[in-house]
Amino acid sequence: MIHADERRMLYTLARDYFTGSGRIIDGGAFLGTSSLSLGHGLKDRHHEKSPVIDTFDWFLIDEYSVRGYLDEGRLFGKEVKTGDNIRFAYEQNIASVAEYIEVHEGNLLAKPWEKGPIEILLGLVL
Ligand SMILES: C[S@@+](CC[C@H](N)C(=O)[O-])C[C@H]1O[C@@H](n2cnc3c(N)ncnc32)[C@H](O)[C@@H]1O
Repeated sequence: MIHADERRMLYTLARDYFTGSGRIIDGGAFLGTSSLSLGHGLKDRHHEKSPVIDTFDWFLIDEYSVRGYLDEGRLFGKEVKTGDNIRFAYEQNIASVAEYIEVHEGNLLAKPWEKGPIEILLGLVL
């Protein structure tokens, strides 16, 4: 999970610095905090509603995150254990900016990139 100052930086980059000359990559989206920050930056500048953010994640929750981030083992009321797919929670968290986001599930490092220039790249993957 990213911190408040990191959220502010991503929001500001998307709102004030993004020119549209390339894509925005959220590499390692987890539960969506970074995606939401980037998406709200675009929304608040009234950017055209099109998917310019590519988010990547396995969406398979690890033991550390199960212990650290869940509310009594639950996400949106659903029981979650290590290894479960949590894309449903990501999708719910980013719903307010979903129009800006294209989701890629799986190993980012095994996916070829064919969408041209990248303008903003956040990489938190292993
Ligand atoms: C530190 S978390 C990212 C935090 C997130 N950006 C946020 O705003 O809270 C790292 C994420 O990267 C994902 N990840 C790590 N290596 C990956 C890979 N090779 N391919 C896809 N996802 C990966 C993990 O599943 C995890 O959700």
